[in-house]
Amino acid sequence: MKDSDFLGDAARAARWIESYRRRVAALPVLPRVQPGEIEALLPADPPDEPGSLASLLAEMDEIIVPGLTHWNHPGFMAYFCSSTTDAGVLAEFLAAELNQNAMLWRTSPAGTELERKVVDWIRRFVVLPEAFEGLILDTASTSSFTALLAARERAVPGVRQSGLSGRAGLGPCTVYVSSEAHSSVHKSALAAGMGLEQVRSIPVDDALRMIPDELEQALSRDREAGDTPVMVCATIGTTSTTAVDPVSEIAGVCSRHGVWLHVDAAYAGPAASLPEKRKLFDGWERADSIVLNPHKWMSTPIDCSVLLYRDAGAMREPLSLTPEYLRSEEDGTNLMDIGLSLGRRFRALKLWFQFRLEGAQAMRARLRSHIAQADRVAKWIETDPRFELVAPHPFSLVVFRAVPPDGIEGDEWNRGLLESVNRRGQVFLSHTKVGGRYVIRIAVGSARGTDEAVREAWQALQEEYDRLAEAY
Ligand SMILES: Cc1ncc(COP(=O)(O)O)c(C=O)c1O
Repeated sequence: MKDSDFLGDAARAARWIESYRRRVAALPVLPRVQPGEIEALLPADPPDEPGSLASLLAEMDEIIVPGLTHWNHPGFMAYFCSSTTDAGVLAEFLAAELNQNAMLWRTSPAGTELERKVVDWIRRFVVLPEAFEGLILDTASTSSFTALLAARERAVPGVRQSGLSGRAGLGPCTVYVSSEAHSSVHKSALAAGMGLEQVRSIPVDDALRMIPDELEQALSRDREAGDTPVMVCATIGTTSTTAVDPVSEIAGVCSRHGVWLHVDAAYAGPAASLPEKRKLFDGWERADSIVLNPHKWMSTPIDCSVLLYRDAGAMREPLSLTPEYLRSEEDGTNLMDIGLSLGRRFRALKLWFQFRLEGAQAMRARLRSHIAQADRVAKWIETDPRFELVAPHPFSLVVFRAVPPDGIEGDEWNRGLLESVNRRGQVFLSHTKVGGRYVIRIAVGSARGTDEAVREAWQALQEEYDRLAEAY
């Protein structure tokens, strides 16, 4: 590809994006391909000769698009929304050209300082105290893992030097989550060498919220048995149902037991910017660390996870390590000191572009429109005897169940209904289990979503219900 083609090719790529946007709503959200099909269409050997962008874009249409699950489709309501806006798309384009790697301040002064600034804008957006600072990582899984390592170092000083194994008098290091918590916390415990068995699953109440008394008892029991409690992770907006743990009470328990409190608000975090939702975030300002993902409900292109923490020293403790070739004299922030990766993408640019091109007011308005859409879906469900809500819907996810016709088993009926709806192609919903029962999730919250798409999803559910009932 010659340099002189760049402007023409950039225009070609932009036109391709524009045409994809016009087409996407008419494509099936879930691709109709079998495993291995896309791979088989691609050559075994890497091409030797250069090709034109025009022919490559044609291959995008022929090979790649038919194999895409369209996360930017208005009917994508399966997993927590991960959508994009112009601001993020343009920022990713420019970031690739600039190719910044802000491992040290010296390797990207602007990348480092923009990251510090936009993280602080996020902090202000979600109204957390100035005591919090942070950085941008790829995913909530990495953010929670990074927090866990800091918590572990605090609970067991010197792990970075001596490791965990073979330390006399050290019992199991334990982590506490509700039974509804995301598996990324369990994975973090695995990666940190603590072991799945040391992840204590604290029971939840009827609203699927961690029970603080149960947490208190578990911590006391474990301490008495010689275990070392390392971290409690409370969730604001669980993956299954968006349940909200009582963070304030949990923070009280953590402070009595001297245990690190991490808050997983990966999905729901941005809603803290809405005064009418603030109650749900009560107490999160007492956390030691908090994760929220702009690449979920803030419509920032994946990946972008913001980890906020109170004690930067504690965050640096587990992993900062500077070999000779990375020593530098400046006293600017070296972002590589926190977390595992040395190299890091210029993710700050897309948050900057979003705040600058969209503005916080529009971002809040978008969140409100998603919440209104979810409220409408919940009303439709409540007033239709064929369906029932199975959990509260404080944000933009609605979890419900179809009431089966007489004589039909409920789980089987809901599974069949979900499959039929997804097979139609215009909408993609997902499932979870609540109280052991199979239930359906409809997750609105995409920047590309529309009122019409939400109505169509509801209509698809009703029509497929009736069609299946007739066939029985
Ligand atoms: C509450 C919660 N925490 C953590 C995660 C993990 O997110 P990531 O894919 O960014 O690691 C998810 C993913 O949906 C989530 O819903």
